[in-house]
Amino acid sequence: MVKKNRSWGGRFKQETAKNALAFSNSIEIDKTFYLEDIQGSIAYAEALVKAKVLKSSEFKKIKSGLNQIHKKIDSNKFNWNKSLEDVHMNIEAALEKNIGDVAKKLHTGRSRNDQVVTDLKLYMLKKSEEIKTSLRELMKSLVQKAEPETETLIPGFTHLQIAQPVSLGHHLMAYYEMFKRDLNRFEFSDVSLSTLPLGSGALAGNRFKVDRKKIAKSLGFRAITQNSIDAVSDRDFIAEMLFNISLTSIHLSRIAEEFIIWSSSQFNYLQLPEELCTGSSIMPQKKNPDMAELVRGGAAKTIGNLVALLSLLKNQPLAYNRDNQEDKAPLFASIDYVLSAIDITSAMVAGAQFNIDEMLNDVFDGHICATDFAEYLVLKGLPFREAHNITGKAVQLAEKKDALLIELSLIELKKLSKKIEKDVYKYLDPMASISAKTSIGGTAPSQVKKQIIKAKIDLNL
Ligand code: ARG
Repeated sequence: MVKKNRSWGGRFKQETAKNALAFSNSIEIDKTFYLEDIQGSIAYAEALVKAKVLKSSEFKKIKSGLNQIHKKIDSNKFNWNKSLEDVHMNIEAALEKNIGDVAKKLHTGRSRNDQVVTDLKLYMLKKSEEIKTSLRELMKSLVQKAEPETETLIPGFTHLQIAQPVSLGHHLMAYYEMFKRDLNRFEFSDVSLSTLPLGSGALAGNRFKVDRKKIAKSLGFRAITQNSIDAVSDRDFIAEMLFNISLTSIHLSRIAEEFIIWSSSQFNYLQLPEELCTGSSIMPQKKNPDMAELVRGGAAKTIGNLVALLSLLKNQPLAYNRDNQEDKAPLFASIDYVLSAIDITSAMVAGAQFNIDEMLNDVFDGHICATDFAEYLVLKGLPFREAHNITGKAVQLAEKKDALLIELSLIELKKLSKKIEKDVYKYLDPMASISAKTSIGGTAPSQVKKQIIKAKIDLNL
């Protein structure tokens, strides 16, 4: 007698080849959601009682058997059997071993196709909460760092060239906005994530009158899926989460990149906390921003994981295909990465020491108030293009004299335009420049303070 798979071996004469088993088993990956598998099974068994497939006494046995397995796995005493393919069959086989034949009724009307996608969604809902909590912590760090710096002048950059003065608080709050969008995106995706597929069977549905709405309620889903064929084959919710993680990781990578540049000795805008830096094994003087570099580098795999998932989906006919087993490795890798990357970024933000004087030095460099000069001329009645041209001439003159715009005399300036008066110098002061940018979302301290107040309310700070 050959040893055949206990769950589906009935029609087979041959045992599965060893290499096929090794190639196809997914236990090392899908045991990640053993808890959700057990929760899903208990909720399903309960529905089978209402559907009169199970007696109450049988349900009790199944429930306590599953709880025992839960404890065993938690305490590392569970023997995972690779020849049983996956987490679902491992747990079901262990249940049968524990409580005997009654375990054989649990899978009535259920398929691993609706089971796996239910487990995954439950697991991802939990992880989504963790990611959102971490994002909120990061946003808090940014707000706390920004709050004392609404009047701290720094050069704002475009093309990494000094552009216009802004405040450090404003700059930090720009990252806050990015992460707020990320947070909203996760919240939005939770809606499609929170639809229960259980009760869809292999693809066609379930004849046993299980109350899907009740199962959804007991497992904490907001709604149920509406088409069983779609429900077992849909992995859009994974694509969505992988996209959300990628974009969050890209934002993390952007702030990491900036911290790397800013902490270089050439910029010297900030010092990263020592406990988040490493030294060099050869160059004794080095303090390297390795954590920031790993945040930047790690973002690459989140993009790869998203592309892997999308590629996995594109050729699949309806409904479930085993290809879908490949959805988990990229998903789990991205989730694990983003959680630790958000955490380390929060610590970098909280521990960053800004060199305000160094930043201020650069504010008085590069004719940073040239745009203010042009806008002054507009306020004096010149069309902007003309004002821009005259300002360009003033910049040329300043460069020739190796001086700042503000150092040019009124006589020199008047040669460029008769409209220029003594009050022009007020417009060449960086603090006056930022104070004037009072548009909603602008860099004026009054505006940035408003943004911060709103953020603090949103974050319960
Ligand atoms: N390990 C499988 C997966 O992750 C579970 C579902 C298997 N279903 C099947 N019909 N073979 O997709």
